[in-house]
Amino acid sequence: LPRVFSGMQPTADSLHLGNYLGALTQWVKLQETHDAFYCVVDLHSITADFEPEVLRQRTRVTAAQFLAGGVDPERSTLLVQSHVAAHAELSWVLTCLTGFGEASRMTQFKDKSQRYGTDRSGVGLFTYPMLMAADILLYQSHRVPVGEDQRQHLELTRDLAQRFNTRFGETFVVPEPYIVKGTAKIYDLQTPDKQMSKSLGGSGCLYLLDEPKVNAKKIRSAVTDTGREIRFDPAEKPGISNLLTIYSALSGQTVEQLEAAYDGKGYGDLKKDLAEVFVEFATPFRDKVRQIVADTEGLDAVLARGAERARTVAGETLATAYDRVGFLPAK
Ligand code: TYM
Repeated sequence: LPRVFSGMQPTADSLHLGNYLGALTQWVKLQETHDAFYCVVDLHSITADFEPEVLRQRTRVTAAQFLAGGVDPERSTLLVQSHVAAHAELSWVLTCLTGFGEASRMTQFKDKSQRYGTDRSGVGLFTYPMLMAADILLYQSHRVPVGEDQRQHLELTRDLAQRFNTRFGETFVVPEPYIVKGTAKIYDLQTPDKQMSKSLGGSGCLYLLDEPKVNAKKIRSAVTDTGREIRFDPAEKPGISNLLTIYSALSGQTVEQLEAAYDGKGYGDLKKDLAEVFVEFATPFRDKVRQIVADTEGLDAVLARGAERARTVAGETLATAYDRVGFLPAK
């Protein structure tokens, strides 16, 4: 089977709807046809502010959300990044193959280092993309399902794979991004020209584990556009188009079906119905996450099994890469 790898950071108490629609729903589909590895990237998450005990809890809750969202641990390998030492090890080699200018051009690095300022920005923020490349290349991944915001990191990953292969001989599969049109960029409900994100946060961001009532209210207060027609038109009607995208993804109806169903109705009707659709999805999801987290031992056992399988696959790739680079094997 072809491989997929993807990851999410345990940086909030809950995933938001962008993470869910942009990535997690694709993960669940791809596990049907791929040997899938899905990772809680805790090493990445310490590039921003964190508290040790909170990080530990968020790591479990993030994994629990993968499971509640439909990742099947019998079929896919669910792992925590820090459980597999090879991620940090390969990342060093790739860091040494990356140009300073090349890394400086990463837009996520530029945005975040500007936001945090030079004193609160660690060097880890700069080397973050090389760790991400290591994640992907260790599993010889063919496809990487992510949202639009990760595209540039995947291009760097491909460049690094090719660079390594050219210099040291064929070692890594060169991965393809798997970025699904439509849901690859879910926008903030209050600022529909910006993507939904935890850094924007606030009333435009739907956290899956928040009180359903709170989220319903956020949906009903979403910014809409001038005019009154319910039509998918991202340039003229970014707010309504985003709501249609979300509605379509959560309900399984196409955007065209929704446009027809809301012909002649108002923005308020659309928002009220979408709020209901969201609550119907989020309520059982929250319950499932709670159940999974309550069985800490069961969850940790799933992660232990995942780590074991991941170490085998990643260890093999790392050994080959180390050998190609010319590191002396330990006898
Ligand atoms: P992270 O944790 O920020 O986000 C997890 C996934 O959610 C997607 N996403 C979105 N998709 C659509 N609309 C949005 N508004 C939205 N916001 C976030 C992200 O694109 C991502 O797919 N660097 C990665 C984590 C990572 C990784 C990897 C991913 C580390 N190693 C290896 C793939 C492969 C990140 O910070 O994702």
